[in-house]
This record gives sequence, C-alpha cells and structure tokens, in this order.
Amino acid sequence: MNTLTLIRPDDWHLHLRDGAMLRAVLPETTRHFGRAIIMPNLVPPVATGAQAAEYRDRIMAAKPLNSKFQPLMTLYLTEETDVRDLRAGAEIGLISAVKLYPAGATTNSASGVADFTKVKRVLENMAQIGLPLCVHGEVTDPQVDIFDREAVFIDRVLDPIRRDVPGLRVVMEHITTRDAADYVREADDNLAATITTHHLVINRNHILVGGIKPHYYCLPVAKREEHRRALVAAATSGDASFFLGTDSAPHLDSAKLQPCGCAGCFTATNTLSILAEVFEAEGALDRLEGFTSRHGPGFYRLPLNSDTVTLTKGEPVAYPTAIDTPDGPVTVFDPGMPLHWRVTE
Ligand code: NCD
Ligand code: ZN
Repeated sequence: MNTLTLIRPDDWHLHLRDGAMLRAVLPETTRHFGRAIIMPNLVPPVATGAQAAEYRDRIMAAKPLNSKFQPLMTLYLTEETDVRDLRAGAEIGLISAVKLYPAGATTNSASGVADFTKVKRVLENMAQIGLPLCVHGEVTDPQVDIFDREAVFIDRVLDPIRRDVPGLRVVMEHITTRDAADYVREADDNLAATITTHHLVINRNHILVGGIKPHYYCLPVAKREEHRRALVAAATSGDASFFLGTDSAPHLDSAKLQPCGCAGCFTATNTLSILAEVFEAEGALDRLEGFTSRHGPGFYRLPLNSDTVTLTKGEPVAYPTAIDTPDGPVTVFDPGMPLHWRVTE
C-alpha cells in the first residue's frame, strides 16, 4: 500500500496563541486539517463569549486565503464562569467545548479552577445541553510526583466529577498513561480521550537520557515506555473513544531553551506523516482514518469533513526543523525516525 486517502483530519486539541505567533503557526495546521478545537489559554484567558468571538475573528483574519479551516472555540473555565454567557455561546454555535485547567497545572493555567465545588452549577448546565468539558487531567498537589499526576487525577478529581454530574460529557485531553487509557476504554460513551502525536513516539527517556532535551518537554510529561505502548494500542485499536488532539503547543526556542523552559511540543507541521509511520508500524493503517477523522466528529456530534487528504509513501520527507516567526524560531517536533508518508493532495 503506497497511497492512503483519508477523510480530511481534524485536530481536537490545538494551541494557536495570538498575534505574530498565530500568523506564523496557523498555516501549519490549515494545510492539512479541516477543523481544530482551539485552546483558550491565552494571557488573559479566553473566558467569555465575547472574548471567544474576538479570538475567533483574529484566527479567521490570520487564515491563509482559500483555506476552509474552521476554528472550534472553547471557553476557559474559571470559578467565575457565567452560566448564561456560556449557554448563549453554545446555542449560537460559537462555543464547542469548555476547558478545565486545574489552577497551576500547565502553561497559562493560573486562572484555572482551585475549588471544584465552585464550578458545579456550570458543569450541570453543560451536562444538560451536552456541551463537552475538555480536561487537563493532572493534579497540582506538590506532594504528588509529576509522573503520577495524571493517574492520581483520575481517582481524586475526574471520577468524582463524573459521579457528581451524571451525563457530563468529558474529553480527557492528551492522555499519557495506561491508567487513563484503561479508564476511558471502560467508561461509558460520555467519556473520550485525545492522544497527541508526540506521546505516541516518545517516552521519558527521550527527554532525559544523554542530556536534557527541552523540545521533548511537554505537559503532561511523557511517561515510561509501557505507557507509550498503551497509548499506541489505544490509538490504533479502532475504539471510537480515542482520537487525535495534537496539543501542538508552539513556544519560541528562546522560551524553551532556558533554565526554566516552557512545556510544549510543536507538531502541527509533521503530524500526519508521523501518525502514518506509527500506524503502519502497528499494521493499523486502516485504522488511521478513525483516529484522525471519524472518532472526533462522532464525539463532538459534528459531520465528518466532506473532502479528503492523500498520503503517499516514498523516500523520507524533509520537514523544516523550525518555523520562523518575527520573534525567532519555533522548533518542529523531531520524531527521531525517518518519515516516509507525505501529504500529496
Ligand atoms: C501547553 C501550552 O504550551 O499551552 N503545553 C503543553 O506542554 N502541552 C499547555 C497544555 O496543554 O498543557
Ligand atoms: Zn494543550
């Protein structure tokens, strides 16, 4: 098999930032993807319907001409989120999901939720109207080891929220553990998970062995190899609870290569080539379309994209090592293996 035609993929977890960075990275996504769930962790966060509408306008203005790309906006859940504003945004189709960051869990999450009882009414309203909650699933308790923060989050936060608010539709974002994959697989249809490109490729050794590799540092941090294997198994299983959310998270190299560097891997540019390589190695190329193009719209109750992309296998593809912005380069994720599948149309 040397060509592969897929319903055009969507990205169910994407950071586009704003201003010059937005303009630099957006074409990397619009080249291949039909839609993307846009993360609201700007500074200040996208926390109201009005802010989401303005951000959407800035994305549309930055879009390459002729691109049919559709940004799907999210609201950043805070302890002050206004139920009426949220419901109004959902009703007019402006808001596709709400994002829960535990306060302090990751990049720009200071406005996130510290006291979960304060957001219960919002969550109950979301359950009523079927609006998905996208969850950054890590506890922030300093006592909990960073490699355990996702597994502990399931027991301490996610499972209690789902019991407390029956019917709430939840996407556990960028899962990194066997624990999360098992929890999602065994749950009902109200729970799904996104899996990133980079977590299918790297484990924690890639970050730490032979010198520290800041470009492989992201949150949740990559775990042991057995967890990566569990993610590959989930992604290639055909189970509709698992779909692609790249979590492509651009930071300037000058912000990553620091004594205290930012978390995030930038994968928008080469994601489809990497995924084809990973799925082919598992003998699962026939399941790639489910992961990239079918399961996400299914969960979000949206139509499939009406056009396609075609990948062709051949000599290794040369991707740029970095994307230029007026403020400096953003390094493209290096999968550490040759990529033989290129998007040809
Ligand atoms: C994301 C970012 O840079 O905004 N970073 C990351 O490592 N994934 C935030 C996030 O999704 O946690
Ligand atoms: Zn993210």
